[in-house]
Amino acid sequence: MKILITAGPTYERIDPVRFIGNFSTGKMGFALAQACAERNFDVVLIAGVVHLQIQHTNIERIDVESAEQMYDAVMEHFPDCDAAIFCAAVADFTPETVYSQKVKRNNNELIIKLKPTKDIAAAAGIIKRKNQILVGFALETNDEETNAISKMQRKNLDMIVLNSLNDSGAGFGYDTNKVTIIKKDADKISLPLLSKKNVAEKIIEEIICFQKSL
Ligand code: C5P
Repeated sequence: MKILITAGPTYERIDPVRFIGNFSTGKMGFALAQACAERNFDVVLIAGVVHLQIQHTNIERIDVESAEQMYDAVMEHFPDCDAAIFCAAVADFTPETVYSQKVKRNNNELIIKLKPTKDIAAAAGIIKRKNQILVGFALETNDEETNAISKMQRKNLDMIVLNSLNDSGAGFGYDTNKVTIIKKDADKISLPLLSKKNVAEKIIEEIICFQKSL
């Protein structure tokens, strides 16, 4: 199995020294890449700006910065893959224009106009072949399951991994996570608080199971 994984945050440049980012560290995506590699999958890991290292002969790592670059890398590699896990916290908006010089401070307010980025998972959902498996993540703060299910349907995903910022020990920066895996057929698996490595193992088991049913 050849699998594509997106991980970490994207940085959207404002000027040469500033950006819009988010608190994702990439730990969940890297745990998935490691676990897949250990199962002998070929992994294409497309990483935003993270401070993590990973070394495995089965992993091809591609570092990107912006949502646009992540989109281009996914579109290039996804057609050759059997599955993709979209674990990255992709910026939803990016500055419409990037200042070529550092913006100087003055007493006026600064208004930065943002335009929407491309939805990478949804774009893969459009070009996906019948035998390709797509897994997304949903980080929700309210109406968690309803939002996650509608996201899965809207982006044409086969599975969505829901995590909530309301659970302590789960989410950005932690080594643990508490997730519910929701499948296309509405079957759902609620897992306890586990290490990200163990969460990764469970997600991979579900992907393998799903692939057998195709
Ligand atoms: O719509 P929302 O951002 O909550 O969806 C989350 C899922 O979609 C995650 O799997 C995330 O990696 C993916 N996503 C993406 N490209 C975007 C926004 C989200 O691939 N521009």
